[in-house]
Amino acid sequence: MDPRPSSALPRELLPDTAEIAGDGRLIVGGVDMLELCQEVGTPVFVYDEEHLRRRCREAVAAFGDGVAYASKAFFCREMARIVHQEGMCIDVSTGGETYVALKAGVPPFRLILHGNNKSDEELLLALNAGIHRIVIDSEDEIDRLERLVPLTTPMQRPRALVRVTPGIEAHTHEYVQTGQDDSKFGFGLASGAAAAAVERLQRSGSPVELVGVHAHIGSQIFEVSSFERAIGVLSEFFLPLGMNEICIGGGLGVPYVEGEKAPSLTEWAAALRRAGSAVGLPSSIRVTAEPGRAIVAAAAITFYTVGTIKQLPGFRTYISVDGGMSDNPRPVLYGSGYEAFLPRATAAPRPYVATIVGKHCESGDLIVRDARVPHDVAVGDLLATPVTGAYGHSMASNYNKVGRPPVVFVRDGKARTVVRRETWDDLLTHDS
Ligand code: LLP
Repeated sequence: MDPRPSSALPRELLPDTAEIAGDGRLIVGGVDMLELCQEVGTPVFVYDEEHLRRRCREAVAAFGDGVAYASKAFFCREMARIVHQEGMCIDVSTGGETYVALKAGVPPFRLILHGNNKSDEELLLALNAGIHRIVIDSEDEIDRLERLVPLTTPMQRPRALVRVTPGIEAHTHEYVQTGQDDSKFGFGLASGAAAAAVERLQRSGSPVELVGVHAHIGSQIFEVSSFERAIGVLSEFFLPLGMNEICIGGGLGVPYVEGEKAPSLTEWAAALRRAGSAVGLPSSIRVTAEPGRAIVAAAAITFYTVGTIKQLPGFRTYISVDGGMSDNPRPVLYGSGYEAFLPRATAAPRPYVATIVGKHCESGDLIVRDARVPHDVAVGDLLATPVTGAYGHSMASNYNKVGRPPVVFVRDGKARTVVRRETWDDLLTHDS
């Protein structure tokens, strides 16, 4: 392994309640992570429940009622209940997410339905339940609503927002930019499509009650200036329309690796409000948002077990763990970076560089390229990657017929499994 300048894991990348015991062991939510992993096995996603609750409360305090959690970032029934208990609405973008939220007992009037290609089935599920808001994405969807709304029981016009693409290229990975003119999402502002959609939805006989406009410019954005520009462009469009709600979507970035800095939810909301009032948005207008990553990312840590260590002189050292691209596809998809550490020596210097890889049958199966690791990392060690709470479990797959890891919530010294580990038999449940 190549010696490099040593640095310990930055404390800010760990969940809020994380503590490092005198001997270096990691404690989260009052639970010893080594003991927990011994009990439940690896890989496992462990979420700090207090961290989740605090971020939800912060979002509600910052934006007020109507702010929604973007469930695509991480979802299961227990997460839905926590988000609802802490006062957030929930952004669902498919029938499946809607179904899970409803089955968790979240009232339909706390759900906001998204999607660029909502099916009849998805729309009917939401309409019949009496959803809080629908975010309309296309002319075809308006046609569909004209046909479906009269069929719902009891017939009620849903409240809706129109999704617009404000023509803003946020500073982030191309795959997660969504505000630019060339986008599959929403109605373009520059082309006049957004104005035409609003005109159609405000006519008498419209299938919906149009209450506002929505834009989501992308994800993992660190600079509030991108959002400020979006509010500016949106407001100019919005102000003459006589509506009272603007949703700026999600997208607030979080630090994943040493040296990254991101605004808090509170700072984000304050910046949006300042930018809104600078362009003449009255304070009576509800400015809201739907963060996903900023609520859940830093709440979780993934724990793996080291299975092999291969030193290739002149090239690199490969440390293989018992998960990989099936539980975290982000490094392969977006080249995302993570840190790694040993939970038995959480604050230990990490003087060596090694590449952490998974157990899948392709070379792209990277978890951390050029990770810093302690000098004594060994086969059998628990190895952890922090900040894996967003778009890890939710984008996990069964590639190579690997079962998805369980999700464990920890709080007040107790651990509870909220999603169990998939077994080999689970792999056969859909297979005839
Ligand atoms: N609202 C809408 C309409 C969205 O499309 C998204 C995310 C959000 C809110 C939440 O965005 P967040 O606050 O989490 O950035 N898989 C990618 C991220 C895709 C984001 C998709 N839309 C990743 O792992 O980075």
